[in-house]
Amino acid sequence: MQLEAVSTPAVEAQVEHLIVFVARQDPPLQGGAAAAVDGALDGAVQSLAASGELTGKRGRTVVLHSLGKLPAPRAILCGVGEPEKLTLTALRNAVAGAARRARDLASGSLAIAAEGPPLEGLAGEAVGQAIAEGVLLGLYRFDRHQSPSEPANSLERVTVHGSEAAALERGIERGRIFAEAANFARDLANEPSNLLTPTELAGRASGWADASGLEAEILEEADAEQLGMGSFLGVARGSHQPAKFIVLRHRGGGDEPSLALIGKGITFDTGGISIKPAANMAAMKQDMSGAAAVIAAIGAIGRLGLPINVTALAPATENMPGGNAIKPGDVLTAMNGTTIEVLNTDAEGRLILADALAYANSLGLTPLVDVATLTGACAVALGNVATGVMGNDDALVGRLVSAGEQTGEKFWQLPMFEEYDEQIKSSVADVKNTGGRLAGAITAAKLLAKFAGETPWIHLDMAGTDDADKTSGVTVKGATGIPVRSLVQLAIDSAGDGGEGA
Ligand code: BES
Ligand code: MN
Ligand code: ZN
Repeated sequence: MQLEAVSTPAVEAQVEHLIVFVARQDPPLQGGAAAAVDGALDGAVQSLAASGELTGKRGRTVVLHSLGKLPAPRAILCGVGEPEKLTLTALRNAVAGAARRARDLASGSLAIAAEGPPLEGLAGEAVGQAIAEGVLLGLYRFDRHQSPSEPANSLERVTVHGSEAAALERGIERGRIFAEAANFARDLANEPSNLLTPTELAGRASGWADASGLEAEILEEADAEQLGMGSFLGVARGSHQPAKFIVLRHRGGGDEPSLALIGKGITFDTGGISIKPAANMAAMKQDMSGAAAVIAAIGAIGRLGLPINVTALAPATENMPGGNAIKPGDVLTAMNGTTIEVLNTDAEGRLILADALAYANSLGLTPLVDVATLTGACAVALGNVATGVMGNDDALVGRLVSAGEQTGEKFWQLPMFEEYDEQIKSSVADVKNTGGRLAGAITAAKLLAKFAGETPWIHLDMAGTDDADKTSGVTVKGATGIPVRSLVQLAIDSAGDGGEGA
């Protein structure tokens, strides 16, 4: 799809649909493109407002036929809510809904009015980015396994109109990189596990690395064995699929230390010998969403050419109950020598991340950011609204939370009080892999903390936010692509600080 900024007025665009933004305010029209449409259509917009059909409510769209009075046959009046509450997040979501509306109307071309009221408080570049993200995230579909029934995505050309076209265009380019990365993560996470094996994930990661200017290195099981990754390989033992440990590198920061992005890559989680119930087990094809997120994010970082070093690590394996699988009570030794008593083979994410964190430390990477669909407990605590964040560095937590405020992805910190350590003490090994029913998200993070050690580290538990059950704003039913954009924003913010401490 062609997506570009142009400096001509949107109302003059020769397109099938024209999107103009309308705020919830009194009087409803206060200049801008909506007023221009109203003028061209002899007061039709004011009349819709007067009748109560057009409220400017956020996310509400009204379609108006221009009957030859505008070059575009239809205008989509896109509600953005109260003007003083018009954030980039609200704009991104509104654009996503309006773009889907245009697609439903089989639109092939779209013009978006991107300046003047109610957008005048927002910077042009940020508006361009939000619009590009709204369009590209909102129109995402995972339909590669369906025979074509409805016409494919017909929207071929989108123009974003504003007199500061250069600033809009810079924003559009950045938004395109953000959204394409999130959509790449969605594609990986939505893919069924028979097709997206660890081998296939490694292959797609390598292709993406090539396209993004990154180095890729895939460690085989023999390499992991050499490194002493007994915890990661323990999980892999139940599966016939060979495990892969994916490493991608972006080198933009000279001799500076490298930020590590570490993602859980369980391509299917049956639970292993501690097998899960059948209901909803299909959702566990997405248990590699953390790996997908870090792979996607470092690709965007490469495409942006950020002046920092970043390394993505993604241990990838299935968690299966094979004849050679680990069993409850088994003891595994991770690459840093720490022993782990496996009381429940379904707490496998922390087992593979333990070795990934230890490996990151052995490479001298800092700070460490891990991303995982780790615990049902986190989903119970925060629902599908916020991703849990824990760690040993509150400043780093704060940077992530603020990155999330910019991207519209929500993060909420859970405590790491030392009292919780008690719950994962083992009587036979250094630590056990389950901490009981209480505070399950935190006790999982507590195990990871032992492998992060003294290195500044945060852990993101996205078990509640990796998947959406309905489409709304930039969220499309299925894999959400969270937290790709926030990881990229965190990298941008840390590059802006000269790469210090992410
Ligand atoms: N992948 C699951 C966590 C999960 C649950 C993600 C629901 C997304 C939706 C993880 O491997 C798991 O099974 N965790 C267990 C841990 C328990 C055995 C300590 C859980 O949360 O029940
Ligand atoms: Mn599990
Ligand atoms: Zn899992």
